[in-house]
Amino acid sequence: MSDRLAAVVLAAGKGTRMKSDRSKVLHAVAGKRMIDWVLDALGPLGVDPIVVVTAPDQDTVRQTVLSRAGSAIQHETLGTGDAVKAARGSLEGWCRDGGTVLVLFGDTPMITPATLAQLIETRRGAGDPAVCVLGFEPKDPALYGRLVTGPGGGLERIVEARDAGPAERAIRLCNGGVMAIDAAVLFAYLDRLENSNTKGEYYLTDLVGIAREQGRGCAVITCDPIETLGVDARAGLARAEAAMQARLRRAAMEGGATLIAPETVFLSHDTRLGRDVTVQPHVVFGPGVVVEDGVEIRAFSHLEGARVASGAVIGPYARLRPGAEIGQDARVGNFVEVKAATLEAGAKVNHLSYIGDARVGAGANIGAGTITCNYDGFAKHRTDIGAGVFVGSNSALIAPVTIADGAIIGAGSTVTTDVPADAVAVVRAEARVLPGGAIRFRARRTAGNKTED
Ligand code: UD1
Repeated sequence: MSDRLAAVVLAAGKGTRMKSDRSKVLHAVAGKRMIDWVLDALGPLGVDPIVVVTAPDQDTVRQTVLSRAGSAIQHETLGTGDAVKAARGSLEGWCRDGGTVLVLFGDTPMITPATLAQLIETRRGAGDPAVCVLGFEPKDPALYGRLVTGPGGGLERIVEARDAGPAERAIRLCNGGVMAIDAAVLFAYLDRLENSNTKGEYYLTDLVGIAREQGRGCAVITCDPIETLGVDARAGLARAEAAMQARLRRAAMEGGATLIAPETVFLSHDTRLGRDVTVQPHVVFGPGVVVEDGVEIRAFSHLEGARVASGAVIGPYARLRPGAEIGQDARVGNFVEVKAATLEAGAKVNHLSYIGDARVGAGANIGAGTITCNYDGFAKHRTDIGAGVFVGSNSALIAPVTIADGAIIGAGSTVTTDVPADAVAVVRAEARVLPGGAIRFRARRTAGNKTED
């Protein structure tokens, strides 16, 4: 049995119910486009070629998949069978040498490589089935195609819900939408499809009946219904997000992270949490976050494009933006925003600060309310804070500026010039204290008020 493997990913459907200017498959789940989830699921299986079937106006989809899949255009949406036919130009030659063609939908982000592998294995296995279908038993079969099986459990035909009689409607086993098809017969069978059905479409699902007429066997395997979850409207997108979040949270916990209230933590497709990381409730991870072992992320923090080294404590209420590099055992406290900045080992920025385009040296302590003023209205500038520096509260560091190792900045300073190592810089107005001044002031005001009366 040939182990050659190709795939056709259908994405040409109009997606009207999304009410979006963007193609449906470009909508993201856990920060990754649905079409990328599907192509990633194919990744470990060594599928080559992959053809994504698109509508004529889906240039952006074609551009998006360009680096790892070919594309074909289905000029009119005449049904799933017609959509696979659109890949003929890319695949027919390849199919002549046999193998298996997987057909799957671009709007089913939950499908896993393990399930696809099982489907392929069954297609290549006993009896050489012409078509192997991924089935599932949904709570509500509603509009899914019903899988009609024979006495031996083999698949006899698929009946779309709209075309099904009462007996067929009663079948619980449904078509999940993924099929593995013998490449040698794919296009010959597709040419036999007819559109004499309720929708007037060319149904891919009719391939099963055609195969049986030709004396070929067909098979079905089943999977967790969640894997077949398709998105056709915003509510479905939210369901897919919830399902993906549940999967990502489970994986994070299996990897050794503690999520105290997992259902309140939102992860991205690429979030990496080390062992013994603790994530308190209500934390959001945008894309590109790596958290090393033993870190604590306290409640209500938001992280994206950030790396946090072991032993650091983040939050509560911290915001790490792209380019934040938090060193070992460093602290980023409440209402602190860090962007494109490195906090070296043991540095502390604990309260109410903005650290942007900066380096904070090892062990430095940045007082409450300190701001790196990185933007002058035209360009961004860097602030370099050396190791062991102490910046007093409510200081404004006007970039570009360097505060060298061991320097101390007095609270309330507005620092516009470089400060050498181990120097003390205090940049604020002299205090004027007038003994009894308050009494005189009140007296003046009271007298003034009486006059006005
Ligand atoms: C399809 C199956 C049904 C199955 C269900 C699972 C058929 C005939 N029916 O029904 O048995 O239970 O999926 O979700 O296959 N598409 C195109 N071009 C077209 C039509 C569709 O590319 O002309 C793409 C769509 O973008 C979508 C996918 O194919 O991603 C499924 O199409 P859709 O019309 O939604 O099929 P269902 O009615 O869900």
